[in-house]
Amino acid sequence: MKVEFKSEIKGKKADALITGVYEGLKEVEKEERERLKALSFGGKRGEVAVLPGEAFKRVIYVGLGKKSEVDSEAVRLAAAKGIRKAGELKAKKVVCELLGVDKLKEKGAKATAEGLIIGSYRFDKYKKDKKEEIERLTVAGQKEFKEAFELGRVLAEATNFARELVNEPGNVITPEKLAEVAKELAQEYGFECKVFDEKKLEKNQMVGILTVGKGSKNPPRFIHLTYKPKKAKKRVVLVGKGVTFDSGGLNIKPEQFMKTMKSDKAGACAVLGIMKAVGELRPDVEVHGLIPTVENMPDGKAYRPDDIIVYKNGVSVEVHSTDAEGRLILADALIYGSELEPDLMIDMATLTGACVVALGHYTSGLFTEDDGLAKELCSISRESGEKLWRMPLDEDLEEEIKGAYADIQNVGKSRYGGAITAALFLKKFVDGEKVKSWAHLDIAGPAFLDREWKYYSQGATGQPVRTVAQLITEIKK
Ligand code: BES
Ligand code: ZN
Ligand code: ZN
Repeated sequence: MKVEFKSEIKGKKADALITGVYEGLKEVEKEERERLKALSFGGKRGEVAVLPGEAFKRVIYVGLGKKSEVDSEAVRLAAAKGIRKAGELKAKKVVCELLGVDKLKEKGAKATAEGLIIGSYRFDKYKKDKKEEIERLTVAGQKEFKEAFELGRVLAEATNFARELVNEPGNVITPEKLAEVAKELAQEYGFECKVFDEKKLEKNQMVGILTVGKGSKNPPRFIHLTYKPKKAKKRVVLVGKGVTFDSGGLNIKPEQFMKTMKSDKAGACAVLGIMKAVGELRPDVEVHGLIPTVENMPDGKAYRPDDIIVYKNGVSVEVHSTDAEGRLILADALIYGSELEPDLMIDMATLTGACVVALGHYTSGLFTEDDGLAKELCSISRESGEKLWRMPLDEDLEEEIKGAYADIQNVGKSRYGGAITAALFLKKFVDGEKVKSWAHLDIAGPAFLDREWKYYSQGATGQPVRTVAQLITEIKK
């Protein structure tokens, strides 16, 4: 779908026009209002109705809800409903007006782009029966909103890029393949890209990645992407869990939990998505994308419960469950990231089922000791719709991960507070002397949905690409 922003649409013919209306239909002409009411369309959030038009064969009305309550989320939802309806109607050329800009200004323009682009994505490349493709989408709005619209477009396209990668199954995306994707991205945007194979992993003492990776015939990798602008004032390190498939290893997962574990690379794919957005937006911030990537499989060569591994920073770890593999590979990346001495380090990982139990499928867990960072991330997240909720790094739970035969163990002694004990485990590998600020995002719930929700189709959501990319663009010099 080709997307263009125009400030003039006079005389343009298209198969469909998408237009937003508030609840009560006050802004709609009387005749149309009656016809819409007859279709039981009242302009409520997420409602959609179609009437025949003239210059536009059809007019798709999307509800924005009460004017006094309209927000970016209402706009994203309306835009998504509109573009999906246009697809159902087999429209090829579509025009969409900016939604909610009378109230939300730039935010409305950005959200319109996000809703249209995120809302039209579906993972159907392997299907004979694909959804109808819209050829051209023209978005009509005032010139002053073009920049905000373009920002929304970049963030949404980066999100869809991540979603597509997450949705690809484990037989297609292996750790090596993920590294190839990173290299292509580096080519496109002029990043530096290092990929560590087993030899280099040994050399860099990345024992977690090597250990977890041993059980698969698809060898493990570590990826390091760098975006380094000339006048960068701040340095950010991003870390993403890249388990291309999590069978649980020898502690094999039961059937109902193993299915969808292709999504266990969502953190890594989000990092790649954020790097793509960074490549487009080119902020004055140095950004490093670190991805430890493995396939977690049971095998004669696989690592086992009771194994003890000693990390480069000296911390020794007892393996209690081979299914708590994410924290083992992230540890290497956090040590490596610390050595880069960043102002900010953020890791994102589909880390624990416990976080899904705590927060449900629509909210990610945020762990940080930096109150300022927490406030900023939560405020961006409220606007982006990628919901975050701060969780405590409760020191009283440290006892839970104390090891009997090594410093720590990779699973808590009880299952209670499982998302927190996982975060406390990660903290052991973040060097407080070298990293000014650190946050961990447990995205196990929202990264992948088993059904359509709001503007997301079933499958990967690309969270938290938009939130973290936005944070990077807003970093003060
Ligand atoms: N990849 C899973 C976590 C997960 C669960 C992601 C559900 C997405 C949806 C992770 O590697 C895992 O298996 N964690 C275990 C940890 C346990 C053994 C301490 C879990 O959550 O059960
Ligand atoms: Zn696991
Ligand atoms: Zn996992």
